Parts: sequence; C-alpha cells; structure tokens
Amino acid sequence: MKSVDRDLVELSDLAPEAIRKLLHRADQMRTQQVPLWRDSVRHVGLIFAEPSTRTSLSFVAAIDRLGAYPLQLDAENSSFSKGETLLDTASTLESIGAESIVVRDGNEMSARSLAEHCDAGVINAGGGTRAHPTQGLLDALTLLDEFGDLEGKTVGIVGDVLRSRVARSDIVAFQALGARVVLVAPDYFQDKTLSEAGVELESKLDDALPHLDAIQMLRIQKERGDGDPEHNLQNYVRDYRLDERRLALARPSLVVLHPGPMNREVEITSGVADGPRSRIRQQVANGVPVRMAVVERALGQASG
Ligand code: CP
Repeated sequence: MKSVDRDLVELSDLAPEAIRKLLHRADQMRTQQVPLWRDSVRHVGLIFAEPSTRTSLSFVAAIDRLGAYPLQLDAENSSFSKGETLLDTASTLESIGAESIVVRDGNEMSARSLAEHCDAGVINAGGGTRAHPTQGLLDALTLLDEFGDLEGKTVGIVGDVLRSRVARSDIVAFQALGARVVLVAPDYFQDKTLSEAGVELESKLDDALPHLDAIQMLRIQKERGDGDPEHNLQNYVRDYRLDERRLALARPSLVVLHPGPMNREVEITSGVADGPRSRIRQQVANGVPVRMAVVERALGQASG
C-alpha cells in the first residue's frame, strides 16, 4: 500500500510541522546537487485539465532538475478530450511508468479521488476553488525569504477570496508558520465560513493596509462565472486595487505578492506589480524548489 505521506492533496492534510519540513527541504533544493537520480529512470505524469503557465512549467523544471522525466499530457490533444475519465487517464500514465501524478482540475475533489485510487503519489496542482497547496507553500517560502520567520506577522489576502483556491491554501501555510491572516474583500467576494479557520475578515482595504506586513492581491476569476450582480468593476477598482496612492497608507516595509496571472490595472497597477515592494517574480522562482521538494516526497524519497 502507498504511504499517505506521498500525496499532497490539501495543506490541511499536513501537520504544521510537516509544512515547515517541506519548506525547509524546498530551501535546501536551491543548493541541492542535482540531478538526484542518475542511475534510474523516474517518471512523473502531468495532467492539466485547466490552463496553467507558472504551475505547469515550474513542475516540469522541478522534475528536470531532480533528474526525473515528465510525462506531460496535452489535455486538448489527448484521449482526455475524447471523454476518457481522469482516473483512466491517470491509470494509463501509471502503466507507462509514472510514479507520481500531478493534477489540476476544475473539480475540487479530483486530486483526492486520484490519491485514493492510484499507487502513484498524487500532487494537487490546483483543484476547483478549494486547494492549491504548492502555491500556498511557495507563497510561504517567499515570505520566509523576506522575514525569516512569520511569528507575529500579519498577512492580508485581498480580493476575490470566494473563488480563490490560493487564498484557502495560503491561510493554512501562513498560519502553520505563526502568521495572523486578514481576508479583505467586499461582501460579494468574501467567504465568511473562513472565519472558522481563525482568520479575520475585513471589508475596507484602506483600514487594513496600515497593519499589514505583507499583502497577497488576488485575481478576479472571471472564468468561474460573473459572480454577484452587485460586483461593479469600477467600484472594485476604486476600493480594492493596489496602486501607488493606496500603497502610501502601508508600512514602508510592506511586501506585495500576487499568485498570477495578473489582471493588470484591475487588482494591481503595473507601477506596484513591477515596483520595489513587489515579490511577484520571487514567488514564481520559488515555485521550482517547492515543487522539487513536493515531487521528491511524492516519489517516496526520504527528505533531507
Ligand atoms: N498561480 C498559478 O497557479 O498560476 P498558473 O495558473 O499560471 O499556473
């Protein structure tokens, strides 16, 4: 039977100590002698049923750097498009030799279901609006790079919280490291059930900004529906866009994150996204060592 420690479906499946251990291993991966495997062929299957740039390419880079080989499915030009099920697709990849399967799907339970049925270590690369665990880890690593420690730090997550799998995974990762998390959103983008996770809810960005050490700006996810009719883009931009004028309300040490892809000039201006407080490029770069650590674990390797 597969060790459950090989799957990464949701960060909430992991104890805070396991999250810290993965982040420590990711940090080591930056200077790890690679490839790890020279004498054996290890395959990792990649199934992206939803679009991706950063996640899919950084998984490929991570697999390459480890010395394994990606079996990358082109969902549109594969038998997936003929109606083959996700489970049959994953089984096919396993039969070809995949010892780990990376999956992104619109159905939030797909990764969980594959983890239950596959011998391969399953990694959730984004499932519905529920979980994006490797994004949560790379965001946490970016903040650790900045602050060394998140105990006593306050992180704001701003915008379309309701439809954000990033927000849900960030909450778990940031809290595991001791941070306080504030969700800032208008009512129509807020998820009040998340207050049960011990986060604070705030509706006014200008009130929250002066108290934050870091801010994660979320994209409005138009592809997941029009949302509430109350949502008015002009009003949203007026009240929630992070621009230079609004940034003046924040501490000079505030750092700015965005998981990407960005709607430039909607939730964040180019001046902020490309400015000195932005850590957005660092987030993308940190995706590679984080995914190296997660793939290593999924392949059943002992981590150092
Ligand atoms: N942040 C993120 O998941 O980006 P992609 O959709 O480009 O992978």
